[in-house]
Amino acid sequence: MRSDFVSSNCEKNAQTAGLTDSYQRHREMVMQLISSTVKDLLGTSGEKCSSLVLLGAGNCMDVDLPKLTELFKMIHLVDLDSAAAVTAVERSEGNADQFKIHAPVDIAEPLLSLTSRDLRAEEDNREQCIKVLQALSAENAVHEIPEADVVISLCVFTQMIDCLCSLIPEGHPTFTNALKAIRIGHLRRMLSMLRPGGVAIFVTDTASSKTAPILHKATDATIAEIVKQLVVDKNFYSGTNPAMLLADLNVLSRLPNGPDTVHTTDPWIWHIDERALATYAFRIQKKLPVKEETEMADVPESN
Ligand SMILES: C[S@@+](CC[C@H](N)C(=O)[O-])C[C@H]1O[C@@H](n2cnc3c(N)ncnc32)[C@H](O)[C@@H]1O
Repeated sequence: MRSDFVSSNCEKNAQTAGLTDSYQRHREMVMQLISSTVKDLLGTSGEKCSSLVLLGAGNCMDVDLPKLTELFKMIHLVDLDSAAAVTAVERSEGNADQFKIHAPVDIAEPLLSLTSRDLRAEEDNREQCIKVLQALSAENAVHEIPEADVVISLCVFTQMIDCLCSLIPEGHPTFTNALKAIRIGHLRRMLSMLRPGGVAIFVTDTASSKTAPILHKATDATIAEIVKQLVVDKNFYSGTNPAMLLADLNVLSRLPNGPDTVHTTDPWIWHIDERALATYAFRIQKKLPVKEETEMADVPESN
């Protein structure tokens, strides 16, 4: 992994580490999504789910770690920033045996190891460029994590796209294909880390008050309409248009281990200090394997 990419992300984490209070509403929304998912998976059994994977765990201010230990037996924290994840676990005062940190890890591998030369579209680099795009879109789970009940992506996608933007500008001939490769790769990786029937929760920030100051005034009652208008005005982070993500999920749903159902949440506001970010999520349930009896029922009986 390139040290400049790692250190710029770690610096951002260091800057936001003290913002626990301003994250409160965002944390409540993320925890509500996780809690209702656990309820759906377990019914009223009162048991715990086996495991949860936090992709982009960082400082873990967008989740309540002690509450998560009541819902899951094991919590896997994945990030490129090992120090942030270690501090988050130490601060949580939860049972240390219930946490496993996987860091530093590039969830979008090989993104954090690329140079702009790898993405050159000229004839003499065509083969290398195609190889890189294939690798970005591949189904690379984090190796040592067993299949989980729930995998959540904590607004890490826009940071991946930030990294892409620092490699090549948006007008570059490879930009759109690289963005699509990272996005479908991220969705495939989430699905591949799940057990059949498990749930992936993809949370993403989609627009910022930096380019849409109206977000400072948004309320629960107005945010959905504001986000719709921002999409129409093309005033959102590259790659986060919900319609495009739904199109990717639709393609993946044709695969045997793809999504079974997909629900989109209403957007909410995530306050990071002076900034207000419009944020939303997809809740994606992975297919169960087709039962053998059903397959057999379709076979005509022989005499
Ligand atoms: C927006 S922050 C998520 C907030 C974090 N959960 C918190 O509460 O502080 C995104 C996280 O993703 C991590 N990240 C960004 N790109 C990554 C990559 N390619 N692989 C692994 N982690 C990455 C950053 O280090 C950061 O901790």
